[in-house]
Amino acid sequence: MSAGRCALVTGAAGGIGRAIALLLAEQGWPVAACDLGEGALETAELVRRGGGEALGLAWDVRDEEAGRAAHAEAAAQLGPVEAVVANAAIVDRIAPAERVSAESWRGELDVNLTGAFLSLQPALEGMRERGRGRIVAISSTAATDGLAGQASYAASKAGLLGLVRTLALEMAPAGVTVNAVLPGMVETEKVAAMPGEVRERALAAVPMRRFATPEEVAAVVAFLVSDAAAYVTGAWLPVDGGIGLSNLTLGRER
Ligand SMILES: NC(=O)c1ccc[n+]([C@@H]2O[C@H](COP(=O)([O-])OP(=O)(O)OC[C@H]3O[C@@H](n4cnc5c(N)ncnc54)[C@H](O)[C@@H]3O)[C@@H](O)[C@H]2O)c1
Repeated sequence: MSAGRCALVTGAAGGIGRAIALLLAEQGWPVAACDLGEGALETAELVRRGGGEALGLAWDVRDEEAGRAAHAEAAAQLGPVEAVVANAAIVDRIAPAERVSAESWRGELDVNLTGAFLSLQPALEGMRERGRGRIVAISSTAATDGLAGQASYAASKAGLLGLVRTLALEMAPAGVTVNAVLPGMVETEKVAAMPGEVRERALAAVPMRRFATPEEVAAVVAFLVSDAAAYVTGAWLPVDGGIGLSNLTLGRER
C-alpha cells in the first residue's frame, strides 16, 4: 500500500500516461494526474471510478512555477510526491533535419527535455530528505537507435538518458532510483491513426510484428516505481518488441 505518498504522472491524459496513471492507482498509489487541460481531470475521474485515489492537475510542463505549484498541491492533497513519471511529450513535425526550423527544434526540446526536468525537479529535495523516491522518464527507442525525420524528438529523448544517468548518481546515496523506459511503437490513438502504408512499414520493422499496448509500457513503469525495483537505477529499459535488434539474417529464412 502507498498510504501517505503519491505518484505524479505528466501527460496523464495521453495514451501511455493514462495507462500509467490507471495502473499505478490499481497498485495502490494515490495519483496526481497531470496534463495540459481537461484531460488531466478526466484521467483522475477514471481512476476514482476504478476505486483509486486521484487528483487531476492542469498545467504546462514548460512552466517552472506551475510545476512547483502542482507538486505542492499534490503533496498537500495526497501526500509527499514519492514517484514522478515524466511522460509528457510532443512530436512537432516529421521532416528531414535540413527542413526543421529552430522554432520547431526548440519547441520539442522545451516540452520533451526541459519540461521533463522541470516536472521532476520539485520532487528531488523531499525525496532526498525522506530517503526514498522513484523517478521514471519516458524516453523512446529513438534515443538509442535514431529516427529519421525526427531529429529534435530523438535528441530530446536522448537528452533524457543523460539526465537519468546523472540524477541516478546524484540521488543514489539517498536511496532514490532514477530510470528511463524506452518504448518502441505503442498502439495509442495517434499510432492507430497512421496511414496504412506507414503502419505496415513500422510493423515490418518490429521483430514481434505488433505494437506494444500502453498497458505493457505502464507495467514496466509500475515495476520501476515498486519496492521490488529498489536496486535498479540509471537503467534504460526498452519496451520495444525487439525493434532495436539487428535486422541482419544470413540464412534464406528467418
Ligand atoms: N506512442 C508511441 O508509440 C511512443 C513511442 C515511444 C515513446 N513514446 C513516448 O511516450 C510518452 C507518451 O506518449 P503517448 O503516445 O501517450 O502520446 P500522447 O500524445 O497520447 O500523450 C502525451 C501527452 O502529453 C501532453 N502534453 C504535451 N505537451 C505538454 C505540455 N507542454 N505540458 C503538459 N502536458 C503536455 C499531451 O497533452 C498528451 O496528453 C511520450 O513521452 C512519448 O514520446 C510514445
